Amino acid sequence: MKVSLILACAGSGARAGFNHNKLWEQIDGKSVIDHTISAFRKSNLIDEIIITASEVDFEKMSALYSKDCVIAKGGDTRTQSVKNALDKVTGEIVLIHDGARPFVTQKMISNCIETAKATGSAIPIIPTPNTMVRLSDEDCEYLGKGGIYSIQTPQGFLTKHITNAYARACDKSFNDDGEVYKEFIGKLSFYDGDAKNVKLTYANDFVCQQQIRFGVGFDCHRLVENRKLILGGVTIPHDKGLLGHSDADVLTHAVMDAMLSALSLRDIGYHFSDKDPQYKDADSMKLLDRVIKMLDDKGYKVDSISACIMAEKPKLLTHIPTITSSLATALNLPLDKVGITATTLEGLGFVGREEGICVHANAVVVKHT
Ligand code: CTP
Ligand code: MG
Repeated sequence: MKVSLILACAGSGARAGFNHNKLWEQIDGKSVIDHTISAFRKSNLIDEIIITASEVDFEKMSALYSKDCVIAKGGDTRTQSVKNALDKVTGEIVLIHDGARPFVTQKMISNCIETAKATGSAIPIIPTPNTMVRLSDEDCEYLGKGGIYSIQTPQGFLTKHITNAYARACDKSFNDDGEVYKEFIGKLSFYDGDAKNVKLTYANDFVCQQQIRFGVGFDCHRLVENRKLILGGVTIPHDKGLLGHSDADVLTHAVMDAMLSALSLRDIGYHFSDKDPQYKDADSMKLLDRVIKMLDDKGYKVDSISACIMAEKPKLLTHIPTITSSLATALNLPLDKVGITATTLEGLGFVGREEGICVHANAVVVKHT
């Protein structure tokens, strides 16, 4: 049996509050609509895809997808959009799915098709974890948890039945396709939905799909006499200090590189050249402020930092809390999101010979808008 897919994409995403259709929002470098289409293409069970597009998005969606998808005009309501798309369906089975559910699983797609083939309809449901209540002006009615489910998509149907149902729906708006089927055709069949298959609705739903990035940084400076030893913005008493064009705060340098690397923003050598006189003796904590701003410009902030300082001397044990607090303040992080460790190298190599100090740092950065 030929299987068609309608992707409902003709909304405006008003509740998400972006100034464009929420389906254009990027998750991991790909738009929501691209993720959704990819999931169905990957399944190999879908023979044709029909995308509903609003007037605003029609041109862009046609340019991007008309090569192997049919683009149908959206309507004022989702019901109307789906109705328009049904006119273009040529398969005997049709799946109808929200473009705003990019995390649909392969298991759901195959279950949906099998259930629709066997019974005529397929509605995915998940048990609600919350106690539900219906409020009215006068009263509140406890619905409890037992027997209460949330409905998802894709919903699958025998095309001739759902087309017939929609034809009879006239201009009325329905909650979903299953409701149209139930009203005009008959009893619905259900299959297991998946909690991962969320419908991205509010701006926060997009943040929760947190675009987490991970970065690594490394730095090393020579230990010499007549220089200060500065680590994470804290001056550590010692008979030697670190040599460098800037203040040579090796810890802050490695942390900055980790932050930049998380977003592929090059490194501190690229941004703050050691040939540039303006960075002579520069305060690395001020440079850190600029790196924070670079991340912010990309819509990201640091979530946590972890760094290991390799130094034979001085013993850093008692200084770790001050260094941690200094970096946490600069990064606007709670203390437990900045993890600093220190180790000697057991006398081995240039660190062991007290010729230099090295730092390896990791940064986790997350999207904040
Ligand atoms: N949709 C559609 N045609 C409409 C309205 C919605 O095809 N007239 C689509 C949306 O693009 C979305 C899916 O139906 O993928 C589910 O709708 P919803 O989550 O409500 O999206 P929007 O209507 O875009 O969002 P909002 O209600 O916040 O404006
Ligand atoms: Mg809507």
